[in-house]
Amino acid sequence: MTDRRPSQRRRRRIDEPRLVAFEAMRAINGDGAYANLVTSEMTVGFSARDAGFIIELVHGTCRMQGSYDRIIAAAAGRSLSSLQAEVVDVLRLGCHQLFRMRVPQHAAVASSVDLAGVAISERVSGLVNAIVRKLTAKSFDQWCDQLSEKLTPRAELGLRLGHPSWIVDALADALHSDQDELISLLEADNEPPVPMLVVRPGLAKRSELLTEKARRARWSLWGVERPGNPGELPAIRQGRAGVQDEGSQLVIQAATAAHPRPKGPWLDLCAGPGGKSALLRGLCPGLLIAAEPQAHRAELVARALRAYPGRYQVIVADGREPAWAPGSMALTLADVPCTGLGALRRRPESRWRREPSQVGELVKLQHALLGTAIASTMPGGIIAYVTCSPHRAETIEVVRRADGIQVLDAPALLPDVPHAASRLDKRFIQLWPHLHGTDAMFCALLRRTE
Ligand SMILES: C[S@@+](CC[C@H](N)C(=O)[O-])C[C@H]1O[C@@H](n2cnc3c(N)ncnc32)[C@H](O)[C@@H]1O
Repeated sequence: MTDRRPSQRRRRRIDEPRLVAFEAMRAINGDGAYANLVTSEMTVGFSARDAGFIIELVHGTCRMQGSYDRIIAAAAGRSLSSLQAEVVDVLRLGCHQLFRMRVPQHAAVASSVDLAGVAISERVSGLVNAIVRKLTAKSFDQWCDQLSEKLTPRAELGLRLGHPSWIVDALADALHSDQDELISLLEADNEPPVPMLVVRPGLAKRSELLTEKARRARWSLWGVERPGNPGELPAIRQGRAGVQDEGSQLVIQAATAAHPRPKGPWLDLCAGPGGKSALLRGLCPGLLIAAEPQAHRAELVARALRAYPGRYQVIVADGREPAWAPGSMALTLADVPCTGLGALRRRPESRWRREPSQVGELVKLQHALLGTAIASTMPGGIIAYVTCSPHRAETIEVVRRADGIQVLDAPALLPDVPHAASRLDKRFIQLWPHLHGTDAMFCALLRRTE
């Protein structure tokens, strides 16, 4: 319950950025909002410095939330479920200021207590004061030392680097390497990426995006890395360029480099929000069909394609019930729904929302969608099976169960990209945040046999 009576607001003062950060945390943890969307809406009108503070505080807290929760429970000597949800969010923000930001200890303590008094109720400020003071008794590493006594080495890494242990296990399995490389990957997941832009082929040139501090993407033919607000650029506003991770660009680069390829339409089976559809439309010699079952996401696909003059159709359709003739596509992209374990750096809260039990349901859907993708493609045509997850079950295991296909050497189609082959099966592309600076995109390229 919030309590903002004027007499109490006068006594306690809390700066606007911390109050907004708290409101953002409530939207994320209370209402299931996405951290990126919430902070981009809530920071409008703030100075660049204050907006940067809010974003670092909210996104950083979300990334480390599971670890902070364990520390808070230990400091409070009680389970978090026995505390008011609003109080827990104040304490999480306090943890991030104490452990990860250059906020002086006294300021982190005082602002947490004031925030609780102003934004929740004066009644909880004493409790928050007591718990935050206990938090200050140890550094983050000391808390982790205390909490990791009974943990496996992987679970300890998860605690120290802000990942659930089942995700650490899945990443370690796909990475197939030593502990040092696993640590590099987990650290890379905690680094927010610099925005990567993409020109829509045929509509814009990269030189239009190469403003001060921008540089060409390392390998993508269409990418430009550029800090700052992409909306400042006319090409972005006009839909002649977009924002897209370089890994997503590279899987399209590989898929469209596969030859020989029959003539015919191309299909994007799981198109929303349309980043890859826009690249495919720019590269497709004929018609592109983009299918997406969710109407609001299909609208985003249409928006991503708006600058192209025709030769595409966006349809609202479930990819498992094709609205097109079997065997009619020359190239099919199945960029299937997945756990997103390869895109953790861009979605601060997502790692704590996913459950290992979701993997099995997703795998069933992925298997069915790959089946339709193959059935939709003409003999000799190409199927690109793509996930933004490196999880074994969602990647190589789905492809290995597929029939009527020949597996192509996908990494050979990205000859300039070092270490692009999956360590679980060299015929597949597996990119990594710590090696390539991209999301951990997986791509299998398949040719439909007779
Ligand atoms: C990983 S996203 C695709 C990203 C997109 N290709 C892009 O680059 O912008 C997966 C998409 O599959 C859609 N999807 C979910 N179930 C589906 C189904 N049964 N058939 C087709 N698409 C589905 C989701 O709504 C989501 O938009």
